[in-house]
Amino acid sequence: MTEAGPSAPRKLQGYEFFEKVLGNPKYIVAPMVDQSELAWRRLSRKYGAQLVYTPMIHAKMFAEGARKPYRNEAFNIPEREEGGAGDRPLIVQFCANDPDWLLKAAKIVEPHCDAVDINLGCPQDIARRGRYGSFLQDEWDLIYKMINNLHNNLSIPVTAKFRVFPTVEKTVQYAQMLERAGAQILTCHGRTREQRGHHSGLADWQKIRAVKESVSVPVIANGNLLFYSDIDTCLAATGADAVMSAEGNLYNPAIFTSATDAALYTPEDSSAPANWAITSDTGLHLPHTTLALEYLEIVNTLETRTSPSAVKGHLFKLLRPAMARETDLREQLGRVRFQKGKEKEAYAKYEEIVKQMDERMRRDARAAEGRPVEELITIDPVSGVKVLPHWVAQPYTRPLLDVDGKKLNKLDVAQVANVIDPTDCETEACGAKRSVSERTPEPEVNPKRAKLAEDNVNPIPLSA
Ligand SMILES: Cc1cc2nc3c(=O)[nH]c(=O)nc-3n(C[C@H](O)[C@H](O)[C@H](O)COP(=O)(O)O)c2cc1C
Repeated sequence: MTEAGPSAPRKLQGYEFFEKVLGNPKYIVAPMVDQSELAWRRLSRKYGAQLVYTPMIHAKMFAEGARKPYRNEAFNIPEREEGGAGDRPLIVQFCANDPDWLLKAAKIVEPHCDAVDINLGCPQDIARRGRYGSFLQDEWDLIYKMINNLHNNLSIPVTAKFRVFPTVEKTVQYAQMLERAGAQILTCHGRTREQRGHHSGLADWQKIRAVKESVSVPVIANGNLLFYSDIDTCLAATGADAVMSAEGNLYNPAIFTSATDAALYTPEDSSAPANWAITSDTGLHLPHTTLALEYLEIVNTLETRTSPSAVKGHLFKLLRPAMARETDLREQLGRVRFQKGKEKEAYAKYEEIVKQMDERMRRDARAAEGRPVEELITIDPVSGVKVLPHWVAQPYTRPLLDVDGKKLNKLDVAQVANVIDPTDCETEACGAKRSVSERTPEPEVNPKRAKLAEDNVNPIPLSA
């Protein structure tokens, strides 16, 4: 353990850390491989995110430094933007299965973030093979050592993100062990390790509540958020201190903006149709093309390189409500190719395509001008979820299967007030370097690559 000298600043813990360092955040963007990168973090913060996590970083690969490209791509320190003034508060997430490698990796990012998080939730086969994420759920001694080593030897706090167990009792014992080891914030994803892919089902908010009631550090609730309006329901049901969103944020980066804050974000452009942004009881829904263009502008102005697969993934998700109509533009987006060192040329092509989409969306919004908002919002017959006009950012929902493989009916769904996209496993690409097109095969994707995704094949060896 490092001796704290007389002048060493006191390390804040638990609620004191949560309030004084993190600013008591309520709206948190999840760690997302290849998707919670710097550019996306900036966009999300602009629209209300109060704390953001980096994508999961493989601790050993990062610490070894032998693979320099990996280190800089995972967290770029030389450009001084990641973890810099516009990128705080920030928590850097690692996956690991060795306390020493984890500490080495954490020491590198220690001056550039507010805490270090350990991923104990990844359910993918790649995590099973690499022995990390939710597959450490059975190795409590190892988890204890990893957390405790960071707790004792880092100048910033350690936090943990985990999935629930099938029973409340085991979940609570586990959370208490994480707290005893030294975790200063617990993020509880209310799904079990088995709830993945089409069997993702709904997150269990009652288990999150049980965790919250059994520990004394702040608890962040994760799972089942589609709309801004779900946030208070989740906080009330779980008693958690804050909510974390992954997919909801990807499809609508303004998920943390309430309808009453909408005026703050009214597009400056006076020629915009009157219904260009939609505010309803679900929250604020900005035109997805506006968000996509803002995102591309951030990507272009950063010195830090944004991975092409991250950009592509974001554009496909943001523009999704319009993709089925504008198939020619979808194909054009899919055909953009990146040449190393010439990424800006590809981003310019993306911008051109998004601008064309923008014109078409304005045309459609204009055609609907004068109709009341309620008339423009429909209900998806399968999921029971509200569907907003196709020119605004909104959640993407698919039919759900429960853990027994039965299709959830409308009533099940309505009772929970929202349906969650069961892609936790397809898109929870805890394999550090898979491209988005491999994870979420879009129609244009090469079948061989789609097969790789199904098989969870990762081009980078992850065994630590
Ligand atoms: C694209 C994508 C990438 C993800 N990557 C990570 C990750 O790096 N680390 C992690 O702990 N969870 C990861 N997850 C899981 C999310 O953090 C979150 O726990 C899960 O999606 C449930 O939240 P949601 O219901 O808001 O989507 C990822 C999820 C998505 C959709």
